[in-house]
Amino acid sequence: MDIALYAPGLGYYAAGARKFGASGDFVTAPEITPLFARALAAQVAELMRRSEPAVLEVGAGTGALAAELLAELDANGASPQAYTIIEVSADLRQRQARMLGSRAPNLAGRIRWLDRLPERFSGVLLANEVLDVMPVQLLSWRENGLLELGIALDGDGSFRWEERPAHGRAPEYARRIIVEPPYVSEICLPAQAWVEAWGTILERGALLLIDYGFPRREYYHPQRATGTLRCHYRHRAHDDPLLLPGLNDITSHVDFTAIAEAGAAAGLELLGYCTQAAFLLNCGVLDILGRIPPGSGARYLKAAADVQRLLNPAEMGELFKVIALGRNVRGGLLGFRSGDRSHTL
Ligand SMILES: C[S@@+](CC[C@H](N)C(=O)[O-])C[C@H]1O[C@@H](n2cnc3c(N)ncnc32)[C@H](O)[C@@H]1O
Repeated sequence: MDIALYAPGLGYYAAGARKFGASGDFVTAPEITPLFARALAAQVAELMRRSEPAVLEVGAGTGALAAELLAELDANGASPQAYTIIEVSADLRQRQARMLGSRAPNLAGRIRWLDRLPERFSGVLLANEVLDVMPVQLLSWRENGLLELGIALDGDGSFRWEERPAHGRAPEYARRIIVEPPYVSEICLPAQAWVEAWGTILERGALLLIDYGFPRREYYHPQRATGTLRCHYRHRAHDDPLLLPGLNDITSHVDFTAIAEAGAAAGLELLGYCTQAAFLLNCGVLDILGRIPPGSGARYLKAAADVQRLLNPAEMGELFKVIALGRNVRGGLLGFRSGDRSHTL
């Protein structure tokens, strides 16, 4: 997964595939509607007031979230002093620079890109749909023990799955997971290491991580005995990561219990965990929708349908979650005021 997504010049996120939008492979919430970023801005503004007026976005995609968030914060007199982006894809970084150059030219002096995590940061860290593309290990629980599914190369140059002993920290980590064999699923140790790294970097403020996933108990549910690894190619979801490597997005759902545990191990406080629907409603997405005059006809109807897609439990409302991990931030957070499910982690 690491090579297929990130190998320099060849990996899906390292090479020039289109990825986003109608001509790409998938759409994300900020690409569906600007109202996602506008609602998120309310939480970002509250957190900046309680820490520092700085935003750091990891994996900014096309730059749509950054552009809309900056516009909304600016309109509310709450612009950050710095908006920093960390992006692994050189091609997406160029797209972000073009998008922000045209959409937020007045804020250009505050926007910068970093090649690696900073040593210290105070403010708000945002990552939408980034944890789900961090490389996983596929584990296979058998009656006679734990194995890992690796990829082997056949004599004719084709790839095939190969079972081998689980390696690295996987066997030790897998003790936290209770399943009935036979069972195949994934673990994502890089996502945990990444959260733990923020435990050292974050001085004051919070990480807001948005993604699809569940608490551990639901993640490793008997009904999910083949795991959650999925690929996206031209708006078709399939589950064969060996097909067209480098041209498919490969993702897995996020185990939010693992993320909360990694935060706790690194001294970060769990500030909230809820569904995307609850979070956006708490942040006033319906009031923002209400600002569009219903008399504007097609424009209002499209915005209402897009918001419905973000909130509907059968679409993104329930599967997508928001988790906030922080340090030195006092008081409850707006986005988790109602419907906080921290107790389920
Ligand atoms: C599925 S896209 C989501 C993009 C955007 N946040 C959105 O919601 O539209 C994943 C993004 O994360 C980037 N990415 C993946 N792993 C990363 C990492 N370890 N650090 C920084 N960016 C990363 C990808 O290049 C891409 O921009």
